[in-house]
Amino acid sequence: MEVVILSGKEEAGALAADAIEALFRAKPDGVLGLATGSSPLPIYDELARRHQEQGLSFTRAQGFALDEYVGLVSGHPQSYREVLRREFTERVDIDPDRVHAPDGTATDIGQACAAYEAAIKAAGGVDVQILGIGTDGHIGFNEPVSSLASRTRIKTLTEQTRQDNARFFDAAEEVPHHVVTQGLGTIMEARHILLIATGAQKAGAVQALVEGPVSALCPASVLQLHPHVTVLIDSASAGQ
Ligand code: GLP
Repeated sequence: MEVVILSGKEEAGALAADAIEALFRAKPDGVLGLATGSSPLPIYDELARRHQEQGLSFTRAQGFALDEYVGLVSGHPQSYREVLRREFTERVDIDPDRVHAPDGTATDIGQACAAYEAAIKAAGGVDVQILGIGTDGHIGFNEPVSSLASRTRIKTLTEQTRQDNARFFDAAEEVPHHVVTQGLGTIMEARHILLIATGAQKAGAVQALVEGPVSALCPASVLQLHPHVTVLIDSASAGQ
């Protein structure tokens, strides 16, 4: 695990964009793992800028979102499919049909989760996975005590995560209780993982991620077992 302490989120976003640009220059049909939340926004801003100004192209790329809320109607502004469309896919030249997200509206969620796993495999697996981290150490929506070997499945959000994410909704009670998320075992199969975290509110989670122990109590700590993880943080989130 490589830990890089940077001046702030812009520098972190630029470094992450360097790794993603290197992937698509070498392998135009590469597969990018997409994350939501505020942490990856500087990465998407930088990729959109490089697309506009430097011709960085994603026409042959595929994207797979980490997670999705269950029960938000299709097109809901806070569904992660919509968030990723606004923040990334419509700002670059990626084919929207090649950007996938778990189906949080499926009547048979178990079947939809299995189909999502199969789609990632059929694409050849994720080359570079973008990750944020929750204040409780979750990645994707793998809350504490998630199995370290878990696959894509339905999960119940903790109250802390619902409160953390309430800022994106009109009212706290609108935050769904359930989500579909790639499992920790799924995320661990990505070839390169870029985790970005900034701000003092992430310091406890970053400490547990980097210094361990490896434990389901901090799901992100499983990344210590991955051969190629880059942790991009600022001095506030490195504070512990
Ligand atoms: C959500 C997402 C996570 C993200 C986390 C942190 O729970 N499912 O993927 O890492 O929020 O969000 P932020 O980066 O806004 O702190």
